Amino acid sequence: MNHASQITARSAESLTTNQGGCDSESTTTRQDIQDPQGERSFERGKQLAKRAHALIPGGCHTYAKGDDQFPTLAPSFIARGKGCRVWDLDGNEYIEYGMGLRSVTLGHAYQSVIDAVARQLPFGTNFGRPSPIEVECAERFLELVPTAEMVKFCKDGSDAMDGAIRLARAYTGREYVAICSDHPFYSTADWFIGTTAMPGGIPEWIRSRTLKFTYNDRESVERLMREQGGQIACVVLEAARLEEPRESFLAWLQEACCQQGALLVFDEMITGFRWHKSGAQYVYGVKPDLSAFGKAMANGFSLSALAGRREVMRLGGLDHDRERVFLLSTTHGAETHAMAAAIATMETYRDSDVIGHLYRQGERLRAGVAAAAQSAGVERQVECLGRPCCLLYTTRDQAGRPSQEFRALFLQELIKRGVLAPSFVVSYSHSDLDVDVTIEAVAEALEVYRQALDNGVERYLVGRPLKPVFRQYA
Ligand SMILES: Cc1ncc(COP(=O)(O)O)c(C=O)c1O
Repeated sequence: MNHASQITARSAESLTTNQGGCDSESTTTRQDIQDPQGERSFERGKQLAKRAHALIPGGCHTYAKGDDQFPTLAPSFIARGKGCRVWDLDGNEYIEYGMGLRSVTLGHAYQSVIDAVARQLPFGTNFGRPSPIEVECAERFLELVPTAEMVKFCKDGSDAMDGAIRLARAYTGREYVAICSDHPFYSTADWFIGTTAMPGGIPEWIRSRTLKFTYNDRESVERLMREQGGQIACVVLEAARLEEPRESFLAWLQEACCQQGALLVFDEMITGFRWHKSGAQYVYGVKPDLSAFGKAMANGFSLSALAGRREVMRLGGLDHDRERVFLLSTTHGAETHAMAAAIATMETYRDSDVIGHLYRQGERLRAGVAAAAQSAGVERQVECLGRPCCLLYTTRDQAGRPSQEFRALFLQELIKRGVLAPSFVVSYSHSDLDVDVTIEAVAEALEVYRQALDNGVERYLVGRPLKPVFRQYA
Protein backbone atom coordinates (compact mmCIF):
# COMPACT_ATOMS: atom_id res chain seq x y z
CA MET A 1 0.00 0.00 0.00
CA ASN A 2 1.51 3.33 -0.95
CA HIS A 3 1.35 6.35 1.33
CA ALA A 4 -1.42 7.98 -0.62
CA SER A 5 -3.68 5.03 0.10
CA GLN A 6 -2.45 4.92 3.66
CA ILE A 7 -3.74 8.41 4.07
CA THR A 8 -7.09 7.23 2.78
CA ALA A 9 -7.28 4.60 5.48
CA ARG A 10 -5.52 6.42 8.24
CA SER A 11 -6.34 10.06 7.78
CA ALA A 12 -8.59 10.59 10.79
CA GLU A 13 -6.33 8.64 13.12
CA SER A 14 -2.96 9.70 11.81
CA LEU A 15 -3.73 13.35 11.45
CA THR A 16 -4.84 13.69 15.04
CA THR A 17 -1.76 11.90 16.36
CA ASN A 18 0.87 13.16 14.01
CA GLN A 19 4.41 13.74 15.16
CA GLY A 20 5.96 16.78 16.72
CA GLY A 21 3.78 19.19 18.59
CA CYS A 22 1.29 19.13 15.82
CA ASP A 23 -2.33 19.45 16.73
CA SER A 24 -3.52 19.21 13.15
CA GLU A 25 -6.65 17.31 12.48
CA SER A 26 -8.31 16.31 9.22
CA THR A 27 -12.05 16.55 9.16
CA THR A 28 -12.28 14.58 5.91
CA THR A 29 -11.90 10.86 6.38
CA ARG A 30 -11.07 8.14 3.86
CA GLN A 31 -10.52 10.63 1.11
CA ASP A 32 -7.71 9.89 -1.27
CA ILE A 33 -6.02 13.24 -1.73
CA GLN A 34 -4.37 12.16 -4.96
CA ASP A 35 -5.89 12.76 -8.36
CA PRO A 36 -3.22 12.27 -11.01
CA GLN A 37 -5.80 11.84 -13.78
CA GLY A 38 -6.79 15.46 -13.28
CA GLU A 39 -10.40 14.81 -12.35
CA ARG A 40 -10.26 17.23 -9.45
CA SER A 41 -12.74 20.01 -10.15
CA PHE A 42 -11.89 23.66 -9.53
CA GLU A 43 -15.16 24.96 -10.97
CA ARG A 44 -16.62 26.77 -7.96
CA GLY A 45 -13.29 28.45 -7.32
CA LYS A 46 -12.97 29.56 -10.95
CA GLN A 47 -16.48 31.06 -10.86
CA LEU A 48 -15.67 33.05 -7.73
CA ALA A 49 -12.35 34.15 -9.26
CA LYS A 50 -14.26 35.83 -12.09
CA ARG A 51 -16.25 37.86 -9.54
CA ALA A 52 -13.07 38.61 -7.60
CA HIS A 53 -11.28 40.05 -10.64
CA ALA A 54 -14.23 42.33 -11.35
CA LEU A 55 -14.09 43.71 -7.82
CA ILE A 56 -10.46 43.51 -6.70
CA PRO A 57 -7.46 44.58 -8.85
CA GLY A 58 -5.50 41.36 -9.39
CA GLY A 59 -8.34 39.31 -7.90
CA CYS A 60 -6.84 39.18 -4.41
CA HIS A 61 -5.01 41.31 -1.86
CA THR A 62 -1.51 39.85 -2.05
CA TYR A 63 0.40 39.46 -5.33
CA ALA A 64 2.04 36.21 -4.22
CA LYS A 65 -1.41 34.60 -3.96
CA GLY A 66 -2.48 35.78 -7.44
CA ASP A 67 -3.63 33.73 -10.43
CA ASP A 68 -0.38 34.44 -12.28
CA GLN A 69 1.55 32.65 -9.52
CA PHE A 70 -0.31 29.34 -9.95
CA PRO A 71 -1.04 27.08 -12.92
CA THR A 72 -4.41 26.97 -14.64
CA LEU A 73 -5.21 23.64 -12.95
CA ALA A 74 -5.07 25.02 -9.42
CA PRO A 75 -7.52 25.96 -6.70
CA SER A 76 -8.47 29.64 -6.92
CA PHE A 77 -9.50 29.90 -3.26
CA ILE A 78 -8.72 28.12 -0.03
CA ALA A 79 -11.86 27.78 2.07
CA ARG A 80 -10.31 26.49 5.30
CA GLY A 81 -7.24 24.94 6.88
CA LYS A 82 -6.31 22.81 9.87
CA GLY A 83 -2.76 21.86 10.75
CA CYS A 84 -0.86 21.54 7.46
CA ARG A 85 -4.02 20.63 5.50
CA VAL A 86 -6.15 23.01 3.49
CA TRP A 87 -9.40 22.56 1.57
CA ASP A 88 -10.31 24.54 -1.52
CA LEU A 89 -13.72 25.90 -2.41
CA ASP A 90 -14.53 22.74 -4.38
CA GLY A 91 -13.75 20.53 -1.38
CA ASN A 92 -10.36 19.23 -2.55
CA GLU A 93 -7.85 18.58 0.22
CA TYR A 94 -4.13 19.38 0.10
CA ILE A 95 -1.02 19.16 2.21
CA GLU A 96 0.16 22.76 2.13
CA TYR A 97 3.68 24.20 2.19
CA GLY A 98 4.61 27.80 2.73
CA MET A 99 1.36 28.29 4.64
CA GLY A 100 0.10 31.88 4.57
CA LEU A 101 3.27 33.16 2.89
CA ARG A 102 5.30 31.67 5.75
CA SER A 103 3.20 33.39 8.42
CA VAL A 104 1.77 30.13 9.81
CA THR A 105 4.59 28.12 11.40
CA LEU A 106 2.65 26.16 14.00
CA GLY A 107 -0.22 25.10 11.78
CA HIS A 108 -3.54 26.46 10.56
CA ALA A 109 -6.06 27.09 13.36
CA TYR A 110 -3.48 25.90 15.89
CA GLN A 111 -5.50 25.11 18.99
CA SER A 112 -3.61 26.99 21.71
CA VAL A 113 -3.43 30.08 19.51
CA ILE A 114 -7.09 30.18 18.58
CA ASP A 115 -8.03 29.45 22.20
CA ALA A 116 -5.95 32.45 23.35
CA VAL A 117 -7.60 34.64 20.70
CA ALA A 118 -11.09 33.42 21.65
CA ARG A 119 -10.40 34.14 25.34
CA GLN A 120 -9.34 37.68 24.48
CA LEU A 121 -12.13 38.64 22.08
CA PRO A 122 -14.98 39.09 24.61
CA PHE A 123 -12.90 41.72 26.43
CA GLY A 124 -12.68 44.00 23.39
CA THR A 125 -9.96 44.52 20.85
CA ASN A 126 -9.07 48.23 20.78
CA PHE A 127 -9.39 51.06 23.31
CA GLY A 128 -8.51 54.76 23.69
CA ARG A 129 -5.55 53.88 25.91
CA PRO A 130 -3.17 50.92 25.76
CA SER A 131 -4.19 47.49 26.99
CA PRO A 132 -2.04 45.64 29.58
CA ILE A 133 -1.50 42.84 27.08
CA GLU A 134 0.79 45.19 25.11
CA VAL A 135 3.29 45.15 27.98
CA GLU A 136 3.01 41.39 28.42
CA CYS A 137 3.57 40.84 24.70
CA ALA A 138 6.62 43.14 24.73
CA GLU A 139 8.06 41.26 27.73
CA ARG A 140 7.56 37.88 26.04
CA PHE A 141 9.13 39.12 22.83
CA LEU A 142 12.21 40.58 24.54
CA GLU A 143 12.66 37.39 26.60
CA LEU A 144 12.68 35.42 23.36
CA VAL A 145 14.87 37.86 21.42
CA PRO A 146 17.41 38.99 24.05
CA THR A 147 19.57 40.81 21.49
CA ALA A 148 16.89 43.56 21.37
CA GLU A 149 16.34 46.07 24.18
CA MET A 150 13.04 47.69 23.14
CA VAL A 151 10.22 46.69 20.82
CA LYS A 152 7.29 48.38 19.13
CA PHE A 153 4.48 46.42 17.52
CA CYS A 154 2.59 47.05 14.32
CA LYS A 155 0.63 45.03 11.78
CA ASP A 156 2.78 44.21 8.76
CA GLY A 157 6.42 43.50 8.16
CA SER A 158 6.51 46.50 5.84
CA ASP A 159 5.37 48.83 8.65
CA ALA A 160 8.19 47.58 10.83
CA MET A 161 10.79 47.95 8.07
CA ASP A 162 9.52 51.43 7.19
CA GLY A 163 9.78 52.42 10.84
CA ALA A 164 13.37 51.16 10.88
CA ILE A 165 14.28 53.26 7.83
CA ARG A 166 12.70 56.44 9.22
CA LEU A 167 14.30 55.92 12.60
CA ALA A 168 17.72 55.26 11.07
CA ARG A 169 17.46 58.40 8.94
CA ALA A 170 16.41 60.48 11.93
CA TYR A 171 19.07 59.03 14.21
CA THR A 172 21.89 59.57 11.73
CA GLY A 173 20.58 62.68 9.96
CA ARG A 174 21.35 60.96 6.61
CA GLU A 175 19.19 60.13 3.58
CA TYR A 176 20.64 57.09 1.82
CA VAL A 177 19.64 53.51 2.47
CA ALA A 178 21.87 50.60 1.33
CA ILE A 179 19.96 47.36 0.69
CA CYS A 180 21.22 43.90 -0.17
CA SER A 181 20.17 43.18 -3.75
CA ASP A 182 20.19 39.39 -3.29
CA HIS A 183 17.23 39.52 -0.94
CA PRO A 184 14.00 39.90 -2.85
CA PHE A 185 11.65 41.87 -0.62
CA TYR A 186 11.74 44.29 2.30
CA SER A 187 8.66 46.50 2.19
CA THR A 188 5.66 47.69 0.21
CA ALA A 189 6.88 51.29 0.66
CA ASP A 190 8.43 53.52 -1.99
CA TRP A 191 12.00 53.31 -0.62
CA PHE A 192 12.01 49.63 -1.66
CA ILE A 193 9.35 49.20 -4.39
CA GLY A 194 11.03 52.04 -6.30
CA THR A 195 14.06 49.78 -6.78
CA THR A 196 12.11 46.88 -8.31
CA ALA A 197 10.99 46.16 -11.87
CA MET A 198 7.63 47.69 -10.93
CA PRO A 199 8.47 51.26 -9.88
CA GLY A 200 5.30 52.87 -11.33
CA GLY A 201 4.14 55.90 -9.34
CA ILE A 202 7.40 56.38 -7.44
CA PRO A 203 9.40 59.57 -8.12
CA GLU A 204 13.00 59.26 -9.24
CA TRP A 205 14.35 61.26 -6.27
CA ILE A 206 12.99 58.64 -3.87
CA ARG A 207 14.38 55.79 -5.98
CA SER A 208 17.79 57.42 -6.08
CA ARG A 209 18.09 57.35 -2.27
CA THR A 210 18.19 53.53 -2.16
CA LEU A 211 21.51 51.95 -3.12
CA LYS A 212 22.36 48.28 -3.56
CA PHE A 213 25.17 45.98 -2.47
CA THR A 214 25.72 42.24 -2.85
CA TYR A 215 25.57 39.63 -0.08
CA ASN A 216 28.94 38.33 1.10
CA ASP A 217 30.67 40.92 -1.10
CA ARG A 218 32.67 43.28 1.10
CA GLU A 219 33.92 45.25 -1.88
CA SER A 220 30.36 46.14 -2.97
CA VAL A 221 29.66 47.55 0.51
CA GLU A 222 32.95 49.42 0.68
CA ARG A 223 32.30 50.96 -2.74
CA LEU A 224 28.94 52.38 -1.59
CA MET A 225 30.47 53.71 1.57
CA ARG A 226 33.29 55.34 -0.39
CA GLU A 227 31.00 56.85 -3.03
CA GLN A 228 28.39 58.20 -0.63
CA GLY A 229 30.93 59.74 1.74
CA GLY A 230 29.15 59.21 5.07
CA GLN A 231 25.63 59.70 3.72
CA ILE A 232 24.33 56.19 4.36
CA ALA A 233 21.80 56.06 7.20
CA CYS A 234 21.50 52.28 7.33
CA VAL A 235 22.49 49.00 5.75
CA VAL A 236 19.52 46.65 5.31
CA LEU A 237 19.53 42.90 4.69
CA GLU A 238 18.20 39.54 5.76
CA ALA A 239 20.91 38.01 7.97
CA ALA A 240 20.88 35.12 5.50
CA ARG A 241 18.63 33.73 2.83
CA LEU A 242 19.72 30.91 0.52
CA GLU A 243 23.38 31.68 0.98
CA GLU A 244 25.04 31.51 4.41
CA PRO A 245 27.38 34.32 5.50
CA ARG A 246 30.99 33.64 4.47
CA GLU A 247 34.14 34.71 6.29
CA SER A 248 32.25 36.45 9.11
CA PHE A 249 30.50 38.73 6.62
CA LEU A 250 27.85 39.82 9.13
CA ALA A 251 30.32 40.65 11.90
CA TRP A 252 32.43 42.53 9.35
CA LEU A 253 29.35 44.42 8.15
CA GLN A 254 28.48 45.41 11.69
CA GLU A 255 31.98 46.78 12.20
CA ALA A 256 31.90 48.60 8.83
CA CYS A 257 28.54 50.21 9.74
CA CYS A 258 29.90 51.23 13.12
CA GLN A 259 32.95 52.88 11.55
CA GLN A 260 30.78 54.73 9.01
CA GLY A 261 28.17 55.80 11.56
CA ALA A 262 25.45 53.85 9.69
CA LEU A 263 22.94 51.57 11.45
CA LEU A 264 22.74 47.86 10.72
CA VAL A 265 19.14 46.70 10.12
CA PHE A 266 18.21 43.03 9.89
CA ASP A 267 14.98 42.04 8.19
CA GLU A 268 13.98 38.98 10.25
CA MET A 269 10.57 38.55 8.64
CA ILE A 270 11.46 35.10 7.35
CA THR A 271 14.43 34.11 9.52
CA GLY A 272 12.70 35.13 12.76
CA PHE A 273 10.80 32.27 14.41
CA ARG A 274 12.35 29.90 11.87
CA TRP A 275 16.20 29.94 11.88
CA HIS A 276 16.05 30.00 15.68
CA LYS A 277 13.46 31.07 18.24
CA SER A 278 15.68 34.06 19.05
CA GLY A 279 16.15 34.95 15.40
CA ALA A 280 18.99 34.74 12.90
CA GLN A 281 20.80 37.45 14.86
CA TYR A 282 21.18 34.90 17.65
CA VAL A 283 22.35 32.16 15.26
CA TYR A 284 25.06 34.35 13.77
CA GLY A 285 25.96 36.14 16.99
CA VAL A 286 25.50 39.61 15.52
CA LYS A 287 23.44 42.24 17.33
CA PRO A 288 21.92 44.62 14.77
CA ASP A 289 21.00 48.16 15.75
CA LEU A 290 17.45 47.50 14.57
CA SER A 291 15.57 44.45 13.36
CA ALA A 292 12.09 43.78 12.09
CA PHE A 293 10.01 40.68 12.78
CA GLY A 294 6.58 39.67 11.48
CA LYS A 295 5.08 36.74 9.57
CA ALA A 296 5.33 33.79 11.98
CA MET A 297 5.31 35.69 15.25
CA ALA A 298 1.53 35.41 15.71
CA ASN A 299 0.94 32.23 13.66
CA GLY A 300 -0.96 33.97 10.89
CA PHE A 301 -2.55 36.79 12.90
CA SER A 302 -1.43 40.25 11.91
CA LEU A 303 1.41 41.41 14.13
CA SER A 304 4.91 42.62 13.41
CA ALA A 305 7.63 44.19 15.50
CA LEU A 306 10.43 46.71 15.23
CA ALA A 307 13.06 45.87 17.82
CA GLY A 308 16.46 47.23 18.63
CA ARG A 309 18.90 49.18 20.72
CA ARG A 310 17.37 51.42 23.38
CA GLU A 311 19.49 54.41 22.39
CA VAL A 312 17.98 54.35 18.89
CA MET A 313 14.47 53.15 19.66
CA ARG A 314 13.90 55.79 22.35
CA LEU A 315 13.84 58.52 19.68
CA GLY A 316 10.30 57.31 19.06
CA GLY A 317 9.47 57.87 22.74
CA LEU A 318 8.82 60.70 25.18
CA ASP A 319 11.97 60.71 27.31
CA HIS A 320 14.53 62.61 25.24
CA ASP A 321 15.12 66.19 24.07
CA ARG A 322 16.08 65.46 20.45
CA GLU A 323 13.70 66.08 17.57
CA ARG A 324 10.79 63.63 17.80
CA VAL A 325 10.45 60.74 15.32
CA PHE A 326 7.06 59.50 14.23
CA LEU A 327 7.71 55.83 14.94
CA LEU A 328 4.97 53.35 14.13
CA SER A 329 1.70 54.69 15.37
CA THR A 330 -1.30 53.00 13.82
CA THR A 331 -4.92 52.62 14.86
CA HIS A 332 -4.81 48.84 14.80
CA GLY A 333 -1.18 48.29 15.78
CA ALA A 334 -1.95 46.79 19.18
CA GLU A 335 -5.17 44.86 18.62
CA THR A 336 -5.48 42.73 21.71
CA HIS A 337 -6.36 39.45 20.01
CA ALA A 338 -3.29 39.63 17.74
CA MET A 339 -1.19 40.18 20.89
CA ALA A 340 -2.89 37.16 22.47
CA ALA A 341 -2.07 35.10 19.37
CA ALA A 342 1.57 36.25 19.51
CA ILE A 343 1.91 35.41 23.21
CA ALA A 344 0.46 31.92 22.67
CA THR A 345 2.77 31.43 19.68
CA MET A 346 5.85 32.59 21.56
CA GLU A 347 4.94 30.35 24.51
CA THR A 348 4.77 27.38 22.16
CA TYR A 349 8.21 28.26 20.81
CA ARG A 350 9.52 28.63 24.36
CA ASP A 351 8.04 25.37 25.67
CA SER A 352 8.33 23.02 22.66
CA ASP A 353 11.00 22.27 20.13
CA VAL A 354 9.20 23.94 17.22
CA ILE A 355 12.43 24.90 15.48
CA GLY A 356 13.88 21.39 15.82
CA HIS A 357 10.74 20.00 14.19
CA LEU A 358 11.00 22.43 11.27
CA TYR A 359 14.61 21.47 10.64
CA ARG A 360 13.90 17.74 11.03
CA GLN A 361 10.93 17.61 8.67
CA GLY A 362 12.59 19.97 6.21
CA GLU A 363 15.64 17.73 6.12
CA ARG A 364 13.51 14.61 5.51
CA LEU A 365 11.73 16.42 2.70
CA ARG A 366 14.96 17.71 1.18
CA ALA A 367 16.47 14.22 1.18
CA GLY A 368 13.29 12.70 -0.31
CA VAL A 369 13.06 15.31 -3.07
CA ALA A 370 16.75 14.86 -3.91
CA ALA A 371 16.33 11.07 -4.15
CA ALA A 372 13.21 11.43 -6.31
CA ALA A 373 14.94 13.94 -8.59
CA GLN A 374 17.92 11.63 -8.96
CA SER A 375 15.73 8.69 -9.80
CA ALA A 376 13.78 10.69 -12.42
CA GLY A 377 17.04 12.08 -13.83
CA VAL A 378 16.06 15.71 -13.14
CA GLU A 379 18.53 16.49 -10.36
CA ARG A 380 19.98 19.35 -12.39
CA GLN A 381 16.52 20.84 -12.78
CA VAL A 382 14.78 20.36 -9.45
CA GLU A 383 16.83 21.03 -6.38
CA CYS A 384 15.93 22.19 -2.87
CA LEU A 385 17.67 25.37 -1.74
CA GLY A 386 18.14 26.96 1.65
CA ARG A 387 18.02 25.83 5.25
CA PRO A 388 15.81 22.78 5.90
CA CYS A 389 13.49 24.99 8.02
CA CYS A 390 12.81 27.17 4.97
CA LEU A 391 13.23 25.23 1.71
CA LEU A 392 12.67 26.69 -1.73
CA TYR A 393 13.14 24.70 -4.94
CA THR A 394 14.36 25.31 -8.47
CA THR A 395 12.49 24.39 -11.67
CA ARG A 396 14.97 24.61 -14.52
CA ASP A 397 14.59 23.74 -18.19
CA GLN A 398 16.77 21.45 -20.35
CA ALA A 399 19.49 24.09 -20.54
CA GLY A 400 19.46 24.63 -16.78
CA ARG A 401 17.72 28.03 -16.97
CA PRO A 402 15.00 28.97 -14.42
CA SER A 403 11.69 28.21 -16.13
CA GLN A 404 8.21 29.52 -15.32
CA GLU A 405 6.76 26.84 -17.66
CA PHE A 406 8.37 24.05 -15.69
CA ARG A 407 7.46 25.68 -12.37
CA ALA A 408 3.84 25.74 -13.53
CA LEU A 409 4.05 22.09 -14.60
CA PHE A 410 5.60 20.95 -11.32
CA LEU A 411 2.96 22.83 -9.30
CA GLN A 412 0.22 21.40 -11.54
CA GLU A 413 1.42 17.82 -11.07
CA LEU A 414 1.76 18.27 -7.30
CA ILE A 415 -1.71 19.78 -7.06
CA LYS A 416 -3.15 16.77 -8.89
CA ARG A 417 -1.57 14.65 -6.19
CA GLY A 418 -2.91 16.70 -3.29
CA VAL A 419 0.13 18.84 -2.53
CA LEU A 420 0.02 22.64 -2.69
CA ALA A 421 3.65 23.68 -2.61
CA PRO A 422 4.79 27.03 -3.99
CA SER A 423 7.78 26.31 -1.71
CA PHE A 424 8.74 23.40 0.53
CA VAL A 425 8.56 25.48 3.72
CA VAL A 426 7.31 23.15 6.49
CA SER A 427 5.41 23.92 9.68
CA TYR A 428 5.20 22.37 13.16
CA SER A 429 2.09 20.53 11.93
CA HIS A 430 3.80 18.62 9.11
CA SER A 431 4.04 15.05 10.35
CA ASP A 432 6.26 12.22 9.09
CA LEU A 433 3.29 10.90 7.13
CA ASP A 434 2.61 14.27 5.52
CA VAL A 435 6.20 14.48 4.40
CA ASP A 436 6.19 10.87 3.14
CA VAL A 437 3.00 11.45 1.12
CA THR A 438 4.57 14.61 -0.27
CA ILE A 439 7.73 12.79 -1.34
CA GLU A 440 5.63 10.20 -3.19
CA ALA A 441 3.72 12.97 -4.93
CA VAL A 442 7.00 14.68 -5.82
CA ALA A 443 8.41 11.43 -7.22
CA GLU A 444 5.40 10.98 -9.53
CA ALA A 445 5.38 14.65 -10.52
CA LEU A 446 9.06 14.47 -11.41
CA GLU A 447 8.41 11.54 -13.75
CA VAL A 448 6.09 13.85 -15.69
CA TYR A 449 8.75 16.59 -15.47
CA ARG A 450 11.25 14.18 -17.04
CA GLN A 451 8.86 13.40 -19.90
CA ALA A 452 8.26 17.11 -20.41
CA LEU A 453 12.00 17.71 -20.65
CA ASP A 454 12.19 15.02 -23.32
CA ASN A 455 9.02 15.77 -25.27
CA GLY A 456 8.29 19.45 -24.67
CA VAL A 457 6.64 21.07 -21.64
CA GLU A 458 3.69 22.35 -23.73
CA ARG A 459 2.47 18.76 -24.16
CA TYR A 460 2.00 18.39 -20.39
CA LEU A 461 1.23 21.85 -19.04
CA VAL A 462 -2.44 22.77 -19.15
CA GLY A 463 -2.86 26.49 -19.81
CA ARG A 464 -0.35 29.31 -19.41
CA PRO A 465 3.00 29.45 -17.57
CA LEU A 466 3.51 31.52 -14.42
CA LYS A 467 4.97 35.02 -14.32
CA PRO A 468 7.26 36.76 -11.84
CA VAL A 469 5.47 39.13 -9.44
CA PHE A 470 7.86 42.00 -10.17
CA ARG A 471 7.41 42.83 -13.85
CA GLN A 472 6.62 46.11 -15.52
CA TYR A 473 3.63 45.04 -17.62
CA ALA A 474 0.76 42.65 -16.89
C1 LIG B 1 11.86 39.35 3.91
C2 LIG B 1 10.59 40.15 3.95
N1 LIG B 1 10.59 41.36 4.50
C3 LIG B 1 9.48 42.12 4.56
C4 LIG B 1 8.29 41.66 4.06
C5 LIG B 1 7.06 42.52 4.15
O1 LIG B 1 6.18 41.97 5.09
P1 LIG B 1 4.60 42.27 4.99
O2 LIG B 1 4.10 41.59 3.76
O3 LIG B 1 4.06 41.69 6.25
O4 LIG B 1 4.44 43.75 4.93
C6 LIG B 1 8.24 40.39 3.47
C7 LIG B 1 6.98 39.88 2.88
O5 LIG B 1 6.92 38.89 2.21
C8 LIG B 1 9.42 39.61 3.42
O6 LIG B 1 9.44 38.40 2.86
